[in-house]
Amino acid sequence: MPRIAYVNGSYVPHHEASVHIEDRGFQFADGIYEVVACINGKMTDERGHLDRLERSLDELGIPMPVTRRSLQFIIREMVRRNRLKNANVYIQVTRGVAKRDFPFPVEVPPSIVLTARNFQFDNNKNVEKGVTAMTVADIRWKRRDIKTTMLLAQVLAKQEAMDGGAYDAWMVDDEGFVTEASSSNAWIVTKDGKLVTRNATTSILRGVTRTAFEKICSGLQMKIEERAFTPAEAYEAQEAFNTSAVALVVPVIMLDGKKIGTGEPGPVAKKLYAEYRAYAEGQRGEHVEWVANLDEDEA
Ligand code: PDD
Repeated sequence: MPRIAYVNGSYVPHHEASVHIEDRGFQFADGIYEVVACINGKMTDERGHLDRLERSLDELGIPMPVTRRSLQFIIREMVRRNRLKNANVYIQVTRGVAKRDFPFPVEVPPSIVLTARNFQFDNNKNVEKGVTAMTVADIRWKRRDIKTTMLLAQVLAKQEAMDGGAYDAWMVDDEGFVTEASSSNAWIVTKDGKLVTRNATTSILRGVTRTAFEKICSGLQMKIEERAFTPAEAYEAQEAFNTSAVALVVPVIMLDGKKIGTGEPGPVAKKLYAEYRAYAEGQRGEHVEWVANLDEDEA
């Protein structure tokens, strides 16, 4: 059974799927993306991801390529046609194909591409054993709240971390505070048990998974402190972890060669992972909406 991709209205074999060389996604990284997890056949936080997809497009002045309803249908078709039960579905939208020129082209339809790949949520090695991370300079642009395909800074960050012997990068801004991980939100649990993650401004991508934890944690009477923190505070933390739609909650057991807590996945990360899986199964009520809700100073 061939792997199937969706490109501008057609389901095509993955190995034949392509976009035009003048696509602005290729020429300018002029596009956005989303990743939706399908866990046990259920779309997880789909509403939030589509909310954020629409907002990213809006911020860049790119129209929705298809209606939200159609997109929901295509996401399900991708899972069905690829015969997947557990998957990450990638949705990419660009400003479309036009003669190479910087200003927006007039009356050009956006391009849309979907791919789906199998992902093992159960017994996931990174979730069970945790990963190591290394801090690197955050060299990205100032609109990190938009989920753009312009990912070169994150590619370099992750490679720098891997070349330094770590699995992932935690990016640090010019003021010395952690922004987020290369493709997930970064969290710490302080010695006195407080959950801390960076406040959502234009400096980070407000994760949909992170937003789900605002709901999940409030149901558990666990308070989240939304504020910036330094690598030094993280070294002293009891636990650290990353959240994203790909692997949900991944414990970070070592940062810059220093053990975090016991150097093993901690109880808070494990608990939050289990809670998110229950939430994904629909056992914690409605899935969240996503709103940009930027802190006032940077909105
Ligand atoms: N990344 N921050 C960054 C920079 C990200 O790229 C991501 C997601 C997140 C977490 O967002 P969410 O919880 O909505 O997945 C935070 C996706 C998964 C990726 O690039 O593959």
